[in-house]
Amino acid sequence: MEQQLKQLRDEALEAIAAAENLGEVEDIRLSFLGKKGRVTGVLRQMGSLPPEQRPLMGKLANEVRDALEGALAARKEVLEHAEQQRRMAAETLDVTLPGRKPARGTIHPLLRVRREIEEIFLGLGYTIEEGPEIETDYYNFVALNLPKHHPARDMQDTFYIDEDAVLRTHTSPVQARTMEKSQGAVPLKMICPGRVYRKDDDVTHSPMFFQVEGLVIDKDITLGDLKGTLLLFAQRMFGENQQIRLRPSFFPFTEPSVEVDILCTSCQGKGCRMCSNTGWLEILGAGMVHPRVLEMSGYDPTKVSGFAFGMGIDRVAMLKYGIKDIRYLYQNDVRVLEQFQGGIG
Ligand code: FA5
Repeated sequence: MEQQLKQLRDEALEAIAAAENLGEVEDIRLSFLGKKGRVTGVLRQMGSLPPEQRPLMGKLANEVRDALEGALAARKEVLEHAEQQRRMAAETLDVTLPGRKPARGTIHPLLRVRREIEEIFLGLGYTIEEGPEIETDYYNFVALNLPKHHPARDMQDTFYIDEDAVLRTHTSPVQARTMEKSQGAVPLKMICPGRVYRKDDDVTHSPMFFQVEGLVIDKDITLGDLKGTLLLFAQRMFGENQQIRLRPSFFPFTEPSVEVDILCTSCQGKGCRMCSNTGWLEILGAGMVHPRVLEMSGYDPTKVSGFAFGMGIDRVAMLKYGIKDIRYLYQNDVRVLEQFQGGIG
């Protein structure tokens, strides 16, 4: 039995030294020291020994068990340490690697231009006003000197909601609303940017687009004030050498009325395809507020005068950034939008 125990001990120690992972160590423990293990099996035979041999064998058996348990624990520690090292090596984080760049959004060109326009006019002391996109027939037309059945209503192809409500065709109704609200007070200086709607659809016309209205009312306002204001605007928006030209036009709510052009942003006035060889590009309609419009909204045309203008924000954005087709502004194609990085947030 002594022989058997020593042989088992040597066999176990050899196996323990050769164990390559914690699973193997546990298997060895079970096969030698477990309930059905081989050392345990030998110890069970202890009862069959003559009584005088039992203490000696008991001592040896304890020694063998202690030796195996010690060797198992030591091997386990070595393997655990090796495993920890391996895991640490595998999980190493290289903080010097370049990070992944998150995709950044950009400001839409229309919003960017709208904010630029607002900045320019806020700096000149204008307020920013708003009005509803679903507008009454009165404010969209009548208060602007366009009574029912007036032929000039056909100048803008209108989406009617019912007899008295339309999707506003321009931002001019906000002129009338703001004048009413101001109850004859001067000076009145406001701009009003917003969405407008018309039955239009081609490369330069969209059924929904943006306008910004401007209105100034005070004593002795002249066409010269309008021209100076728009020249300053054009130079801030398109560059300090920009020029403007006023052409006679017609709007029922202004008298006289003008259409305003800027020097072609593509050829600077030399003449090219973009400006049909005229050297000029139209950006807005404007004029001196019609006396009847002043009167209808509570101002006395014998005491005050005013100018107004209505500009297409889409048109300004297209000219400023060389966008050839207005639909690019509404398709939200990331490849287009990505080109407008930075700018005023
Ligand atoms: C008007 O809407 C007048 N209310 C402007 C005005 C205001 C005149 C105050 C006098 C006093 P008009 O229809 O020309 O005018 O439109 C003004 C601008 O809106 C045009 O110069 C153009 O830049 C833009 N515009 C017109 N229709 C469209 C459209 N379908 N898509 C994009 N821009 C448009």
